[in-house]
This record gives sequence, structure tokens and C-alpha cells, in this order.
Amino acid sequence: MRVGVVGLGMGLYLATWCRRLGMEVVAACDRDPARRAEAAVHLSSAAVFEDWRVLLEYDLDGVVLANDFDEHAPLAVAFLDRGIHVLSESAACADERQAIALLEAERRSAATYSFAENYVFHPHVRLLRKAVEAREIGRVTLVEADYLHAMSPDDVSGLIGDPNHWRGRIEPTAYCTHTLSPILALTGELPTEVTAFPVDTTDSRSAVVMVVRLSGGGLAVTRHGFLQGEPDSHWSWVSVRGTEGLAESVRAPGARAWSVRVRKEGWTTGDGVTRDEQRAPAAVTLPDGSLVEPKAEGTVRILEGFRACVERGALPLVPVGPAVAASLVGVVGARSLRSGSCPVPMPNLSV
Ligand SMILES: NC(=O)c1ccc[n+]([C@@H]2O[C@H](COP(=O)([O-])OP(=O)(O)OC[C@H]3O[C@@H](n4cnc5c(N)ncnc54)[C@H](O)[C@@H]3O)[C@@H](O)[C@H]2O)c1
Repeated sequence: MRVGVVGLGMGLYLATWCRRLGMEVVAACDRDPARRAEAAVHLSSAAVFEDWRVLLEYDLDGVVLANDFDEHAPLAVAFLDRGIHVLSESAACADERQAIALLEAERRSAATYSFAENYVFHPHVRLLRKAVEAREIGRVTLVEADYLHAMSPDDVSGLIGDPNHWRGRIEPTAYCTHTLSPILALTGELPTEVTAFPVDTTDSRSAVVMVVRLSGGGLAVTRHGFLQGEPDSHWSWVSVRGTEGLAESVRAPGARAWSVRVRKEGWTTGDGVTRDEQRAPAAVTLPDGSLVEPKAEGTVRILEGFRACVERGALPLVPVGPAVAASLVGVVGARSLRSGSCPVPMPNLSV
């Protein structure tokens, strides 16, 4: 499988994993010469360009989009229209117009669109999905999900203080796909309404809480941004309450953060005994026997899923519908913030 990569920060990490998993990275691009020089060292067999449009003319099976967060949709549309399979980092789109353009491009293309949402396949989220899909906790009613970084004030302003960088220009609600995508995968539902709150009105850019109504009637509460007490499971913590019990990430330091607790209430079990247990994820190894770090498992799965789309005609692991829905929660959440935290309905995007 011949792969091209656009954007060589996270893109270089993804390209390195593509190669480890047996894909051929034949072309890459970045407008930053320093990033191109670094990539030339690590991706010695790839041609490295400044302009992403060169990759449209390249003989590629698939492209990985890891350029700026709020600029993925136009590139995804262009590659889909060339019949090149797309694996796109978040966000899938930056507004409704882009969302519609992307949905239409995916529909008319012979190629597939996959969202590079590794958080859906992190070890703790996979354990939670297994419990939910086995109906161990009944029907899901309340999901909470955190994506939180504990950083010093100086480090936060170093990361988001430059309005010329995408991290500085995006809305504080925008980077929500690492919470919303696991929620949509766990429930199989769609968001219908979003209410967003700044955590601290004296520092309203640093962290937000969103309350999201789901199409099945339940509620999701997401917290993201910069708050102390970050989870050691790659900054992600997820809790799922159902009509018969609870499944949630263990709040513990270190490797135990990847484990989950599943509780089934005694009144639901037939014998009256409450079951409450912790489950640790099994280790994942590659065919060559090497161990995959827990925080890389999601990346490995999305890249293997992308390869299956291209080589075997498999369906995308995270397809365009939930990718667009998760991304638009951030857009609609920003409107809610601007309106003083009024509930804002999600757009109806029937294309
Ligand atoms: N899923 C994850 O765990 C994860 C982790 C980190 C980043 N990301 C995502 O990856 C994307 C990139 O993040 P990053 O941290 O690498 O950001 P970054 O700003 O460090 O890197 C982006 C790179 O893309 C290049 N670029 C942007 N537009 C370009 C264009 N039109 N043509 C050529 N090059 C272009 C920039 O020069 C830059 O080097 C973002 O969408 C981010 O959300 C995801």
C-alpha cells in the first residue's frame, strides 16, 4: 500500500507507524522546511515536498492528513475526488459548509474516508465498549469523558498563546473529538444539542465543559482543555452509566489508568449479588513479537483499519458520519459559549 502524508508533526509519527506496519510511505509534505528536513532523515525512501497539491498527482493508494487541525476538509475532498483513500486527523471539518462538502465528496468517491480517531481504540475505551456491547450495564444513560492536560500556566500559554498557530486560533470547544468520538462509538448515537461552559470565567480559554444531548435520550458531559489531575491513560478518562450498572476508567496513577471498573447492581443480577470488578487490558503485540505501548494501540488499530479499507474493501472504523458529528459538536459548542452557555441544537445535515 502506497501512502502519502500531509503535515509532518503528528504526521511523521503516523508515517513511522505506517512503515512499521508494512505500508510504503512514498511521499510526504510540509510547508515548514525544518519539518521537511526531519522527515527526510526518518522517511528516507519518501519524496518530500512543500506543496500538498503535488501529492494529488502522485501514484498513491491512501493519504494521511495531519496538517493544521481546522484545515482538513478541503484536502480530504480533493484527495477523495482523485480516488485516493483518506485517513484524516481531527477535526474532520470546521463548519457546516465543510461538513456538507465532505459528506458529498465521500458519497461520490470510489475511495473511503476514515477518521484517525485513536481514542476510540485506546485500551480502556475498548474494555468499556465490550461491557456496553455485552449489555452488562443495560441501556446507556449518562456518559462522561475527559480529555485533559495538566500543565503549568507558562506551558499552556506556550502551547495556545500564538494566534497564528492552529492551537492558538481554534475555539476552546473545538478539540473535542477525543471525547465525543468514544462517546458516539460507545452509544451508537448522535449528538442533538450542545451547551458549553467555560470552567473558569477568569480564564475562559483554558478549559470547557460541554453538556451534549444524545439522540437515544441520554446525556454526555465532556471536559477538555487544561485542568490539573490529568489521566495517565493518554489524557483520557471515560465513565458510562447504564440502566443496570456502571463501566468506567479507573481513576488511578500510572498503568492502572488503562483499567476499567464494571459494576452490575445486585437488583439486576437474579441472585441479588452486586458484581463489581476491575478489568485490565490484555497486552497487544505486533506480528514480529514486539509489544505495543498502550498509548499507541489506538494508532495501530486505526492504521490497520485504514489499510483494510484500501486492500480488502473493509468499511472505515470511524466513518465520515460520526467524524463530522463529533467535529461539529465543537463548532456548535463555540456558539453556545458565545451565547452565554445557551443550549444550541446540532445542525441537520441530510445530504
Ligand atoms: N490523534 C492524536 O492523538 C493526535 C495527536 C497530535 C496531533 N493530532 C492532530 O494532528 C494534526 C496536526 O497536529 P500537530 O500536533 O502535528 O500540529 P503541528 O502544527 O505541530 O503540525 C502540523 C504541520 O502541518 C504542516 N502544514 C499545515 N498545513 C499545511 C499545508 N497546507 N501544506 C503542507 N504542510 C502543512 C505545518 O507546517 C506543520 O508542520 C492536528 O489535527 C491534531 O489535532 C492528533
